Amino acid sequence: MNNAEALLERLNEDHALSLDEYEALIEAQTPDLAQKAAALADRARREIYGNKIYVRGLIEIGNVCRNDCYYCGIRRSNKSCDRYVLDDETILACCDEGDALGFRTFVLQSGEGCLSVARICDLVREIKRRHPACAVTLSLGEYDRADYQKMFDAGADRYLLRHETADKAHYEKLHPAALSFDRRMNCLRDLKAIGFQVGCGFMVGSPFQTARTLAKDLKFIEAFQPDMCGIGPFVPHHATPFADEPAGTIEQTCYLLSLLRLIRPNLLLPATTALGTVDPRGREKGILAGANVVMPNLSPTATRKQYDLYDNKICTGDESAQCKNCLNMRMRTIGFEIVTDRGDIKK
Ligand code: 5AD
Ligand code: FES
Repeated sequence: MNNAEALLERLNEDHALSLDEYEALIEAQTPDLAQKAAALADRARREIYGNKIYVRGLIEIGNVCRNDCYYCGIRRSNKSCDRYVLDDETILACCDEGDALGFRTFVLQSGEGCLSVARICDLVREIKRRHPACAVTLSLGEYDRADYQKMFDAGADRYLLRHETADKAHYEKLHPAALSFDRRMNCLRDLKAIGFQVGCGFMVGSPFQTARTLAKDLKFIEAFQPDMCGIGPFVPHHATPFADEPAGTIEQTCYLLSLLRLIRPNLLLPATTALGTVDPRGREKGILAGANVVMPNLSPTATRKQYDLYDNKICTGDESAQCKNCLNMRMRTIGFEIVTDRGDIKK
């Protein structure tokens, strides 16, 4: 057994490594090592979740955004972005359709500052009134603690806020000065303290990312112990400052999915749309590497193309039922099964 394989074995046993060891493991990636990591991750995941895959219906409720992240296609400075905000009836109709299709989690996602806090809370209350067996996940960006508390009190169960990178200097290269690394990390701590099930996450292959910054992401996740972690390859968007930067790879994303599974065996880990964008079998490969969640798009077909975070995003022409069926079939072909379940973390 070589040194990197020994590190993998230890990660599988202890669910922890030092920062230098994570960095070494990231640098040591080869197809052979990635396969060993995937085999360990697969075993760890099966012990807890069997061959069950959880689904979340993703509803992209608006692409208006007050921020200007350099990588994101819906950034405020992108004047070619065709902005929209769904009305309440449309959002509620998406949830009704989702419930009928067997979804028991709805993820409401938007650009930051797109809806008022009062409107968010009213929506959450109405969704929970209509669909009491369903979980509501919010992915709406940064708010202060009192506002997060209002959303929680309105009935929201979970909150996704990707930390984007756990390295402050790297964070500052991906975002303008108005965005603060410390504030973002504080938001994650607030969300956890309030009692949300919390998801963080990062892009793989974002500009200026190194083995060291990725090691910090892994160390952060080991310490923070999120319930969920969303990772996907960076994909350039033509109308952003990072238009000419190379995309992240399927291989590195899958390898990191495996390492995350070993760090936290019960982690809710989606095989993301971005993964399906860089490779036609990306989501299947993500599941085989250790992911256990998929997030079919439940947004109205009319506005899907406008939620344009990165180029060539998949599923923008499909109906919700098509997305669900497509993923059902994809999961079945690799021996996994999508279940109708809220899909809470197994503790
Ligand atoms: N490529 C991949 N992922 C992106 N995101 C935003 N822009 C891109 C891009 N160009 C991700 C960010 C954000 C999430 C909603 O989408 O990580 O948190
Ligand atoms: Fe909207 Fe980044 S530009 S979150």
